[in-house]
Amino acid sequence: MNFKIAKLPGDGIGPEVVSQAVKAVDAVCRRFGHTAEYTFGYVGACAIDRYGDAYPEETHNICMDSDAVLFGAVGDPKYDNDPTAKVRPEQGLLAIRKKLGLYANLRPVETFRSLIDRSPLRTELVDGADFMCIRELTGGMYFGKKGREDGGNTAYDTCIYSRPEVERILKLAFEYAMRRRKHLTVVDKANVLESSRLWRQIAQEMEPQYPEVTVDYLFVDNAAMQLIRCPKVFDVIVTENTFGDILTDEASCITGSMGLLASASVGEHTSLFEPIHGSYPQAAGKNIANPLATILSAAMMFEYAFGLMEEGKAIREAVSASIDAGIVTEDLAAPSQKACSTSEVGDWVAEYIDKAK
Ligand code: IPM
Ligand code: MN
Repeated sequence: MNFKIAKLPGDGIGPEVVSQAVKAVDAVCRRFGHTAEYTFGYVGACAIDRYGDAYPEETHNICMDSDAVLFGAVGDPKYDNDPTAKVRPEQGLLAIRKKLGLYANLRPVETFRSLIDRSPLRTELVDGADFMCIRELTGGMYFGKKGREDGGNTAYDTCIYSRPEVERILKLAFEYAMRRRKHLTVVDKANVLESSRLWRQIAQEMEPQYPEVTVDYLFVDNAAMQLIRCPKVFDVIVTENTFGDILTDEASCITGSMGLLASASVGEHTSLFEPIHGSYPQAAGKNIANPLATILSAAMMFEYAFGLMEEGKAIREAVSASIDAGIVTEDLAAPSQKACSTSEVGDWVAEYIDKAK
C-alpha cells in the first residue's frame, strides 16, 4: 500500500520525536512492502510565526488530503504567561481536532514489565495494569461559549454537550469495551453538573444494547483516586473532554513516564496520531526527549488508520525490545544506566524493525 501521511511536527520537541517515528514508519514500510509519502505542514507556534494562524488553511488542506496525520506537539512558553495573547499555539491543536471532526481520543495505558520500578506507584499496584481512556475531544468546556463580562472582571467557559455528541462517543466506548474485557467505566460529575447528568442518562439508555458489558459510573474526583489506588481494575474509561485531559495526564505516570503514552484521535475525517506529552520546551533541540510515545502513536496509525495490525505489532515489539535492552532516554534510564539520546532510540527501534524479519 501507499500511505499519504501529513507530517505536523509542531513546536518544542515535536520535530525531534516525529523524526524518530518517521524512521520507524519507513522501516515498517521496507519490511512489509509499503510506501509512505509525507507532506509537511506547519501547526502551533511555528505556524503563528509564519502565517499568524496556529492552524493555517494550507495545513488543513494537507490533512484533508492525507490518509493519516502524524502530529508532534504545540506550545511555546512565550505565550503561557501572557493571558492577553490573542493567538495561541494550542488553538492550532483545538482547530485541527474540530475541523477534522476528531471527537474521540484514545489513550491506552499499558505497563512495561522492565520499567515497573520506574512507576511512582508500588509494583504490585501497577504490574499488569492495562486500560484504554476514551476522551471526548470536540465538545465540553473546550469548545463551549466563553467570554468576559463586567469590564473583563468576570469570565466564563461553558460545558455544553448535545445528545448526538454524547451518543457517538459512548457508542464507540461500548464497542471498544466489547472488543476488550467488557468493562466500561463512565466518568462524570453527575452529582453536580447537568451536562454529566445527560451523559449518565444516555449511557444508562444504551446499556441494554450491550448486555455483555459491565458498566460502572464514577464521579471524576473518585475516579482520580481509584486510578492511583487500583489502576488494574480499569478496562475502558470514557469521559468528557476536560476530565479526560486531566485523568490521562494522571494515568500516564502509572507507566513510569509520560514519554510512553501514545494516542489516536478519530472521527469524521483523517485520523490523527500524537503523543500525549506536550512540547517540553526545556528539552527542545537537545536530543534528550523520549520518542517512544510518538513511535507508539505511529503503531496506532497502522492499526487504526490503515487496519494493518501486523505492522503495528512490529513497531510495538521493537519498542518493547528497546526498553528491555535498556535503550532508553534519561526519563527512563535507571541511575546506573547510561541514557540514550532521542535519535539513538529512534535508530535502534528502526534497525530492530529492519532486522526482525
Ligand atoms: C492534550 C493537551 C491539549 C489539551 C492542549 C495542548 C490544548 O494537553 O492533548 O492533552 O488540553 O487537549
Ligand atoms: Mn493534556
